[in-house]
Amino acid sequence: MKNTMTMIDNRNGKSYEFNIKDATRGPSVVDIGSFYAQTGMFTYDNGFTSTASCKSTITFIDGEKGELRYRGIKIEELATKHNYLETCYLLLNSELPNKEALVDFDLELRHRSLLHENLKNIFATFPTDAHPMAALSAATAALSAFYYSHLNIADENDYQEMARRIIAKMPTLAAFAYRHSIGAPFIQPDIERSFTENFLYMLRAYPGGKMHIGKDGEHKIKEIEIKALDTIFTLHADHEQNASTTTVRGVASTGAHPYVAISAGISALWGRAHGGANESVIKQLEMIGSVDKVDEFIARAKDPDDAFRLMGFGHRVYKNFDPRAKILKNLQDQLKDELNLDSNLMKIANKIEEIALNDEYFISRKLYPNIDFYSGIILTALQIPKSMFTPIFVIGRTVGWITQWIEFKKDKENKIARPRQLYLGK
Ligand code: SDX
Repeated sequence: MKNTMTMIDNRNGKSYEFNIKDATRGPSVVDIGSFYAQTGMFTYDNGFTSTASCKSTITFIDGEKGELRYRGIKIEELATKHNYLETCYLLLNSELPNKEALVDFDLELRHRSLLHENLKNIFATFPTDAHPMAALSAATAALSAFYYSHLNIADENDYQEMARRIIAKMPTLAAFAYRHSIGAPFIQPDIERSFTENFLYMLRAYPGGKMHIGKDGEHKIKEIEIKALDTIFTLHADHEQNASTTTVRGVASTGAHPYVAISAGISALWGRAHGGANESVIKQLEMIGSVDKVDEFIARAKDPDDAFRLMGFGHRVYKNFDPRAKILKNLQDQLKDELNLDSNLMKIANKIEEIALNDEYFISRKLYPNIDFYSGIILTALQIPKSMFTPIFVIGRTVGWITQWIEFKKDKENKIARPRQLYLGK
């Protein structure tokens, strides 16, 4: 049996044959690269709902089963048995690190977490009430100017160094963007602290490195807080060809510097349909305000004439529970006492989930909670302001973006991304 698909144009009976490429997991693809040459027509797929844009070995999602794997390892295993730095190493190197490799990787990221002194000035150009995402995207693009000559784009060995540098600096860039937005002095990274603790430190510390001091003494960063945030970073590390990763690959395809590709990814992620949803979820839960108002907002979400959507619900790929949402929900239940989670917001979220999962509108459209539905409640308990929710998504996802960038650059068949159109003009 030939591994091909034949398509017949019923207008003239002409038939066309296309090769099928099989996947190691998930759906096969029909290679339509010759479609225009054979038929003189383009294919059309609004929003790329049925289109594979590339080959990849990084992340696998089974949307029907609600399964997510990084380099073949299930997200549940990574989130419970490993930490974010191990996950970064896995994504970059296709294997988990041994003890020695992890120590080396950790130390390198700590020493690369500092920023060039000149780069700090970019934050001063922003109004203090600017959303940190605006400064983060701009500062990341500016980073390319400091490392232009360091990168021989043709030398694959440079890619790993470029990757480790941007992973290491993203928390510092995000923390500085935040500190600028509250008019507070920057807190330099402390290379004696782990990746995740260091981020909380740069957000919270007073000049001199002390944390808030209450009547009960200094409020040092708790292990449980570090573990919770580290798990959130792991869950956000990569997610196949989502909108921001597609943006990163698109910029990679023109040969631009990797850090401007990451900056473009940050901008794409900011939208509330994508990574900006985590901030919108909390604002929505606060707007709903109490469980007895949930029904009113569920009705609005179902009303085709009302633009209101239930933020944190629905997903292009998951037509089952987002496995990351399940892990965050469990984490929420584990932490509710220790981190004093906002019980009212939790009650509202749980009520929304309970009603939506039993409502025909959501069931028929296979709308389930996604990663953004629960992350905000935990981040709020970590005293992280809403404006920093999407920057935290950026910190977690940077490793995914740069890994996808490297995979694109190493693909000998890579081409500039240049789709066509269905022209309906004059
Ligand atoms: C992320 O792609 C990724 O992998 C992204 C991500 C990652 O890790 O990178 O997982 C991160 O972005 C998660 C998604 C965060 N966004 C939100 O939570 C925003 C709310 N959700 C939606 O806007 C929507 O569900 C999307 C954008 C996530 C998915 O949109 P699709 O796949 O294009 O689906 P659609 O808009 O065509 O909706 C299908 C139907 C429509 O109804 P009908 O026209 O058939 O009557 O479902 C309805 C939609 O109106 N619908 C919703 C809804 N989401 C979809 N109705 C109410 N509330 C919602 N949230």
